[in-house]
Amino acid sequence: MAFGLFRKGDKKAEEQAHSGPHYYDLKVKQIVRETRDAISIVFEQPEKKISYKAGQFLTLILPINGKEVRRAYSLCSSPAVDDDLAVSVKRVDKGLMSNWLADNLKAGDRVKVLEPMGQFTTEYHSGNKRHLVMFAGGSGITPMMSIIKTTLALEPNSICSLIYCNRDIDSIIFKEQLDKLQTVDQGRLHVIHILDNAPMNWQGYSGLLNHDMLTRLFERIPDWGLDKTTYLMCGPEGMMKNVETLLAARNIPEPKIFKESFVQGTIDKQPKKEPAASGNTAHEVKILYDGQEYKFQVEPNRTILETALDLGIDLPYSCQSGLCTACRGKALSGKVKLDEEEGLSASERAEGYVLTCVGHPVTDDVVIEIG
Ligand SMILES: Cc1cc2nc3c(=O)[nH]c(=O)nc-3n(C[C@H](O)[C@H](O)[C@H](O)COP(=O)(O)OP(=O)(O)OC[C@H]3O[C@@H](n4cnc5c(N)ncnc54)[C@H](O)[C@@H]3O)c2cc1C
Ligand code: FES
Repeated sequence: MAFGLFRKGDKKAEEQAHSGPHYYDLKVKQIVRETRDAISIVFEQPEKKISYKAGQFLTLILPINGKEVRRAYSLCSSPAVDDDLAVSVKRVDKGLMSNWLADNLKAGDRVKVLEPMGQFTTEYHSGNKRHLVMFAGGSGITPMMSIIKTTLALEPNSICSLIYCNRDIDSIIFKEQLDKLQTVDQGRLHVIHILDNAPMNWQGYSGLLNHDMLTRLFERIPDWGLDKTTYLMCGPEGMMKNVETLLAARNIPEPKIFKESFVQGTIDKQPKKEPAASGNTAHEVKILYDGQEYKFQVEPNRTILETALDLGIDLPYSCQSGLCTACRGKALSGKVKLDEEEGLSASERAEGYVLTCVGHPVTDDVVIEIG
């Protein structure tokens, strides 16, 4: 969900709006072992540099077990300070891509990636004066790392506070880098670690983040008032739900809170209706993309993206589960039913944005503009 959508008149946004999905063949420069189950993959920037915004992600596309697999990984590098592009990947139990990368990828390998995408970003200006209060859990630190480095570099009047939850001390990704950033940019980055299992000599916080703990944490970080404060979160679903509830209890309005989900939520979910949401009728869809117009019928149990891909239409996508917004388009007419709405904010939904990977047309006049 964006904490500052690209605005009309933004050059980069307009360039993106008129070009198709760009694929790159990137060379792995280095693999950095961050913790026992997390690595960073550093890619060499190609000669014509790939531009991106802090908070966006790359989609890695790899043949695994004879099948093309795509997964989104947030860039942890900063376009403002880092020469290379980097993502960090944490192993997921029995996960296909995360374990393959950790076990197989090495320096010198080449990886196909889709251009940087994602709305968990903002405009960075030297004139901004704001306080970013960030909640990260585990691998959810990756976009935050890029946002922190970029904010500190480009916004001399802004500050960041990071509340970072981990299982134990050895699971903290980027601990040294964060320690260093705190001392280098004294006073502008404040990091508070919370551990599930703290060692005996641990001076920091431990246990579940609850109302009392949050009250104590908020006493330790600067209070710049609601106007100048933005809340960001990225981490396991349970942590994010907990933080949302705690922020709501402190009367922090929803439009001030932005989140990036790595995995589809299961908490509070109604079981999916069968068959898929569009009823029993196929409907026609028109897609406007990259100066082209595509018209096709979508069967009731298929999504718009699945149908387009079956027809060989190269549309942008990554997670295929309604989280990352890589497949986002705007419905100019007709009605589209989404199986999953988590990736879109209430205002994006109100503006007519839809996600083709979880979208089904429910009328025959659906026109979607992508880009
Ligand atoms: C916008 C976006 C940005 C992302 N950025 C990062 C990142 O910076 N670093 C990173 O490590 N991952 C990131 N992810 C998650 C990543 O895309 C993959 O989903 C993850 O690596 C698991 O893929 P896999 O193939 O190993 O597991 P799969 O084979 O896809 O999944 C195996 C099982 O694990 C579950 N699962 C999948 N992901 C998770 C998870 N994160 N936690 C717990 N259970 C899970 C699945 O539901 C499934 O049951 C991001 C996801 C999105 C949508
Ligand atoms: S591909 Fe990620 S939201 Fe559709």
